[in-house]
Amino acid sequence: MARTVDLGLWRTPVEPVPRLSAAVGLDPDDLWVKRDDWLGHGGGGNKLRKLAHLLGVAVADGADTVVTTGAAQSNHARLTAAAARRLGLDVVLVLHGDGPGEATGNLALDALFGAEVVWAGAGGDEVLAARAGEVAAERERGGATVSVIPFGGSDGVGARGYVECAAELAEQVPDARHVVVAVGSGGTMAGLVTGLGPERVLGVDTGAVPDPVARVARLVAATATGRTVREDEVRVREDVAGEGYGVLSAAGREAMILAGRHAGIVLDPVYTATAFAGLLAGVRDGAIVPGDRTVFVHTGGLPGLFGHPVAAELAATLG
Ligand SMILES: Cc1ncc(COP(=O)(O)O)c(C=O)c1O
Repeated sequence: MARTVDLGLWRTPVEPVPRLSAAVGLDPDDLWVKRDDWLGHGGGGNKLRKLAHLLGVAVADGADTVVTTGAAQSNHARLTAAAARRLGLDVVLVLHGDGPGEATGNLALDALFGAEVVWAGAGGDEVLAARAGEVAAERERGGATVSVIPFGGSDGVGARGYVECAAELAEQVPDARHVVVAVGSGGTMAGLVTGLGPERVLGVDTGAVPDPVARVARLVAATATGRTVREDEVRVREDVAGEGYGVLSAAGREAMILAGRHAGIVLDPVYTATAFAGLLAGVRDGAIVPGDRTVFVHTGGLPGLFGHPVAAELAATLG
């Protein structure tokens, strides 16, 4: 029996976006959006589905403090803080970098939720994980019971949140040919692949990890649902992350503008803009053709827009 906590989640709608569908070169009825950006607690987004499971285990194990890691503008860290507060837990965020700099976007919300932030300096994810381990040990020496939530909320437990989303999608859009989703730490795609099979899920890499395909395959097995996939079955586009994680490419910018102008939908510059750029690239190279029922999973990230230089650039175009 899965242990979960109530983070106010509901079954999110899937809505048609006929003007956007036509603007990207599909038939008007082809493109639909799964509104996981409307999972609203704490500013919303996909991580809430994972946290319902991860914090379920933490609470059942008696944790009173959670520690997690991420980039300075991590949506996962922000939602871990919001969810922890809802449950009455203390929260420490171990973030990349040396300090807040222009502390806006997700960092403003981290502060609002009263998260303690530890700056881990430069270095890869191992550096972050090591620092998180030290912070957890310090807290435990001080008498706390700590649960360390993995990077991006992506392990076999967190990915179960997206097995549930896959079940919703299977009912809502049974004829979906492509389900397009951003890949950061991989758990969201892994849950969808677990529930829907690898053929229908098209991941778009955002450059957050060096080995997205291998990670997704490992995470599918880690859900312990009996589903396994070979790496060569996992469909991930790795050609649109541009200059790397967090850097908005020309294709990502085009995606943001298209979604804004033809559907009034906000894509964030790090994840959903990249994912939608992957969808556009798929239409342009024939991987997605008119007549293919296509679902874009909107995973949220709106606060990150206001922590990214593109927000000021967009405002400046108004003159
Ligand atoms: C808004 C948004 N979309 C997509 C993702 C990617 O999800 P995952 O890390 O499960 O691959 C993230 C992860 O941080 C995110 O914040």
